[in-house]
Amino acid sequence: MSCVLIANWKVNLDMKALENYCKEISISLPLLIDKNNDVQIVMAPSYLHLPYVRQQIINQELISLAAQDCSAFRDGPHTGDVSAAMLKEMGCSYVIIGHSERRLSYNENEELLAAKLECAYAEGLRPIYCIGEDFEARLANTFLPKLRQQIKDAGLDRLAKSKAIIAYEPIWSIGTGLTPTSDQITEVSNFIHELLPNQDIVYGGSVNHENAASILSLNHINGLLIGKASTDPEQFMQIIKATLNK
Ligand code: PGA
Repeated sequence: MSCVLIANWKVNLDMKALENYCKEISISLPLLIDKNNDVQIVMAPSYLHLPYVRQQIINQELISLAAQDCSAFRDGPHTGDVSAAMLKEMGCSYVIIGHSERRLSYNENEELLAAKLECAYAEGLRPIYCIGEDFEARLANTFLPKLRQQIKDAGLDRLAKSKAIIAYEPIWSIGTGLTPTSDQITEVSNFIHELLPNQDIVYGGSVNHENAASILSLNHINGLLIGKASTDPEQFMQIIKATLNK
């Protein structure tokens, strides 16, 4: 894989904003990239908005769909859940699993995340498995063992045999405007690469058009997971442009 840019819209963009977004992107994206660019754009709207976005991008080979989460169960009595099979049916090819916002707000632990990963594997969805340390672990220099644990407990061997993407997202960087130094990101990307040599690694946390290219030039980083800056079509297009010029 050359480069994957994942737009994680979280709980943002109402229908009007979404219509505008899809309109803008379907006009400007084909002017910017084609199949030869080796850039894969992945959009992760809310569950509810998946069918609309799918309909808008259906002719755009350059864009794939992701869900922001999936159920840990394949089917059955789990009110409120959305299964990996349903996501597949809705046109998703990726699913984000283990985002720190879900780990923190819903106490999602690795046992649960391993079950979600299994559901994704079973449906042939490509998981984007998120790991990351909090500021305390960074200060205490315990972040590498923590990251190893997040990978090990979610099923290291299984991940190693899968097509999962590993997203390194330091919690202290998400939505804060703080980004780790190049050396800090490289230390972690090398570390993940040693554990999972065949998996793609992306970075997420306060990515914008000014830092995108330099982060993408770092060792073993072949993509970006973008939150806030991806909710504005102009900013997202600027990030894509920066990526192409790197
Ligand atoms: P951010 O979010 O780009 O707004 O920091 C990234 C993420 O949570 O995936």
